[in-house]
Amino acid sequence: MSDVHTISAKTLLVGLIGWPVSHSVSPAMHNAAFDALGLDWRYVPLPVDPALPGAVGDAVRGMRAMGMCGVNVTVPHKQAVLPFLDRIEAAAQAMRAVNTIIVEADGSLTGDNTDAPGFIADLRAHGVEPSGQRVLVLGAGGSARAIVYGLAQARARHITLANRSIERAGRLLDDLRPFLGATTVEVTTLPDGLRAIEADLIVNCTSLGMTPHQDTTPWPHELPLHPGQIVYDLVYNPADTLLLRQGRQHGARAIGGLGMLIWQGALAFERWTGQPAPVEVMRSAAEECLRRRVADSGQQRAQQPINVRYATLDDDDAISQLHSALQAYHAEAHPSFFKQPSAYTFPPTIVRDLLAKPSTVVFLAEIGGTAIGYLYADAMPAQETTMTFPLERLWIHHIIVKPDFQRQGVGRALIEAAKSYARRQGIKTLALSVWAFNRAAIRFFEAQGFVIYNHRMWLQLGGVAV
Ligand SMILES: NC(=O)c1ccc[n+]([C@@H]2O[C@H](COP(=O)([O-])OP(=O)(O)OC[C@H]3O[C@@H](n4cnc5c(N)ncnc54)[C@H](OP(=O)(O)O)[C@@H]3O)[C@@H](O)[C@H]2O)c1
Repeated sequence: MSDVHTISAKTLLVGLIGWPVSHSVSPAMHNAAFDALGLDWRYVPLPVDPALPGAVGDAVRGMRAMGMCGVNVTVPHKQAVLPFLDRIEAAAQAMRAVNTIIVEADGSLTGDNTDAPGFIADLRAHGVEPSGQRVLVLGAGGSARAIVYGLAQARARHITLANRSIERAGRLLDDLRPFLGATTVEVTTLPDGLRAIEADLIVNCTSLGMTPHQDTTPWPHELPLHPGQIVYDLVYNPADTLLLRQGRQHGARAIGGLGMLIWQGALAFERWTGQPAPVEVMRSAAEECLRRRVADSGQQRAQQPINVRYATLDDDDAISQLHSALQAYHAEAHPSFFKQPSAYTFPPTIVRDLLAKPSTVVFLAEIGGTAIGYLYADAMPAQETTMTFPLERLWIHHIIVKPDFQRQGVGRALIEAAKSYARRQGIKTLALSVWAFNRAAIRFFEAQGFVIYNHRMWLQLGGVAV
């Protein structure tokens, strides 16, 4: 057995071409597999800049010239490599996309696509047989092509393809029609067309839910999911997406996308080496790599300064999304009290109307240019009543910090911005109301110097009203 850590002229080389490739888990996954089997092989990231004229062809041909054994191909080059190959396997022809190139013994180049069989292999590894199933596929991008092709090959009964752009879904269907066999396919719009669809398996192929947009989901909160249904999310970073949590909340079975990533890699590994892939070794390496990435990004975040600025009309979307994130968080913590967010909870149109009002003040907190929290207040004096004087105050309606950025000083920075604003305006009081059960919020405001002057109270009556 060779010393796998020593790179020599005999070391066999594979890699990943794409742009960017620095965040890929494939090098960790494949190198762990080579080490486990004692193979003198290495897998390296190979960034190929799409802006460089002729770069994709040079990279593919260079592989043969340099005696490499093959590469994986990722975005944006999955289609661009096609003209430079000598042979294209049926799956890659159908999908018009290649994710694996094999340099054959005679130096010729074969293009294959292991995404579709990787997805089916992972479903089966979870004990799910797609044959005869009614499947709802969300999204119509590159990955949806692989999923629809794979499901048709595995004889799914019916596929509903739902995409934001229905034209793109129609193009996907037209391209794959010759490969559908007995599987019937219809297209609809996402999310409006989802209401009346019966599905055994729901597969998310949109990028919604993927880091850094962990608070988004393709599934409208007001729509039910059912026990007995399977929700499969191709997104694997984060491992537990909002869609998977929605599925579990309704009793459905939830499966994340890491398994598909591992199986597509395992199938490429087998094509290059001719040996069975050590799938569990690859899984541990991929999981470890993703864990390290989350820890590193947490550290980077902690080192970056929090920037607080006045929000503008262009921040309407960011504010609406931050509001949904916190609403979803509350709904999970207090399901009998808070509704799940919907498109109507705090939509961008209402945010814009509020931002346009002269008495409104909204501060946005950002880290590294990403919005992570906001404070929305207004400076109208409270009305005088028969019992109280008018209260000159800055009334804080919302203060919202993304759940994974809490306890990092963002809330304090927003309150400090509101205090400075109030001082400049000659306003002496900051006020708000807080739910009594929200102990964490009460502790936070007390730590900022607030005193409690107003509390909501209620009495729960048991029994049934007659
Ligand atoms: N587990 C795995 O092995 C694996 C493999 C491949 C991909 N993936 C993951 O799958 C996801 C999709 O990848 P892809 O290559 O298919 O991407 P893609 O080709 O860019 O397609 C993106 C899809 O997401 C939809 N979308 C994006 N933003 C949306 C929004 N705000 N509202 C509604 N729909 C939205 C797009 O709809 P429009 O057409 O309307 O723009 C399109 O259908 C990514 O998260 C990727 O990481 C996982």
